[in-house]
Amino acid sequence: MPSEFNAKAFIEKSIAEIQEAVKDGKVLLGLSGGVDSSVLAALLAKAIGGQLYCIFADHGLMRKNEGDEVEEAFKDRGLNFIRANVKDRFLNKLKGVTDPERKRKIIGEEFIRVFEEEANKIGNADFLAQGTIYPDIAESGSDGKKLIKSHHNVGGIPENINFKGIIEPLKTLYKEDVRRLGLELNLPAELVNRQPFPGPGLAVRCIGEVTEEKLEILREADYIFRTELAAAKLDQAINQYFAVITDTRSVGVKNGGRTYGYLIALRAVVTDDFVSADFARIPYDTLEKVSMRITGEIRSVNRVVYDITSKPPSTVEWE
Ligand code: XMP
Repeated sequence: MPSEFNAKAFIEKSIAEIQEAVKDGKVLLGLSGGVDSSVLAALLAKAIGGQLYCIFADHGLMRKNEGDEVEEAFKDRGLNFIRANVKDRFLNKLKGVTDPERKRKIIGEEFIRVFEEEANKIGNADFLAQGTIYPDIAESGSDGKKLIKSHHNVGGIPENINFKGIIEPLKTLYKEDVRRLGLELNLPAELVNRQPFPGPGLAVRCIGEVTEEKLEILREADYIFRTELAAAKLDQAINQYFAVITDTRSVGVKNGGRTYGYLIALRAVVTDDFVSADFARIPYDTLEKVSMRITGEIRSVNRVVYDITSKPPSTVEWE
């Protein structure tokens, strides 16, 4: 349980295990800039330093400005940081795909392909490191539980992978443990407390086909939602909050004329462990402000709804 977790002891034990497993090999890490992969990067850097190569696959499914922020946060930390600009290739693979599980598998597989290619450029990396944590495994059915959804770093791994092994030092940990570990490893609190972001990124918040147009609308709506929650000082009390662009259009009226626009859904949850979650009780005034801004500033959106379901029966993400 999180309260019994001893971060110092965990670090010591992990470092010994990582060094034993890796020896003088090279390790590749897919760095998303999220909490799990960032903490893993810090842990691996401490264990094996210059043998670590962090690859940031910029798949074009990040939130607004996020790609540049990730680069900024990691480029001067003494890691081998590589930013692969692979947006077009991800969007091409996702063209016409609407099934959530297919999207997840495609993205998971494409991630691995990018790593393999980058590994070859570096000169054959021996190991792939992944920031898998315990709830990822539990919810992907690998420990005998029922499949709920394939987390990209579990269900999406292709079988013909070209590495000697996979390194997943965080796989027994809950999110809270990972954050403690990050603080113990001297990562900035702002990064350690960042809300989670799914590996498949905005693709699972873009219901139906993923297109550049929908992604752009989603990024703007999500940015407005996040900005307003921060302005209302609600961002610390809510564990995860984001916008979803649905594949539903509805009729509305703007400037006296008929519109047929996109429907944006807002999702915000309060949770200890992300295994179950309650929807956040955001005051109506804040929701109204967010709705007015989204419909006012994004021309093709004419309706905004707030998701009032808990997990279960819903999941946090919509796909
Ligand atoms: P769900 O939607 O399963 O989400 O209730 C629980 C938490 O996990 C995050 N999530 C993911 N994280 N890879 C990840 O690393 C994924 O494929 C993935 N899918 C969901 C989600 O954002 C939430 O915090």
